[in-house]
Amino acid sequence: MKKENNLVWQKSLVIPEQRARILRQKPITLWLTGLSGSGKSTIAFELEKELLSQNKLAFVLDGDNLRHGLCKDLGFTGTDRSENIRRVAEVSRLMNDSGLIVISAFISPLQKDRDLAREIIKPSRFREVYISTSLEVCEKRDVKGLYKKAREGVLDNFTGISSPYEKPVSPDFIFDTSAISISECTKKLLEHINMHSKDFWPIN
Ligand code: ADX
Repeated sequence: MKKENNLVWQKSLVIPEQRARILRQKPITLWLTGLSGSGKSTIAFELEKELLSQNKLAFVLDGDNLRHGLCKDLGFTGTDRSENIRRVAEVSRLMNDSGLIVISAFISPLQKDRDLAREIIKPSRFREVYISTSLEVCEKRDVKGLYKKAREGVLDNFTGISSPYEKPVSPDFIFDTSAISISECTKKLLEHINMHSKDFWPIN
């Protein structure tokens, strides 16, 4: 199909399912959203470790890490955060097409940006995981000392303090890490990933 911008989609000679079958797993993106300090990265890396120990190929895309490279030109205005999420969603899609299980951990504060991510990645392989740990708890933890800076006015546009966070409207999972352990959250997500793969590649 020819487009007005003179770009023509070049068709691959294989389909994504062929790659997934080689890896013996069904790709999915678990999209972890929540405040800074809510536990997203901890859950993401724990889950990645567990998946690899089960011989499943998984990869974490983490907000802090991607902002060191692919998204290093972006800040924390609404426009920049939207662009951050769009890029990460495109990367998640490519990684899913290549057969990988993706765990994306981003504050992703706006519902419209998460909805766009769902569309880019494809609703059938997107799961919204809300890490619902309260602002009070996150601020008390203040692992990176950023809440303190935000309260002092040294750090602008800080989510939960001077920038909004919209709770997911209908998330697939909700975990409050002040009420449930990291290993419990990880276990629930692992179970889901295994169920998701079941019809595609039976678990022995
Ligand atoms: S998002 O809003 O665009 O999804 P992202 O997850 O990539 O954010 O990055 C969040 C991380 O950036 C936080 O964990 C924190 O370490 C750091 N950070 C620095 N400044 C801010 C800010 N103003 N608001 C939120 N996080 C910030």
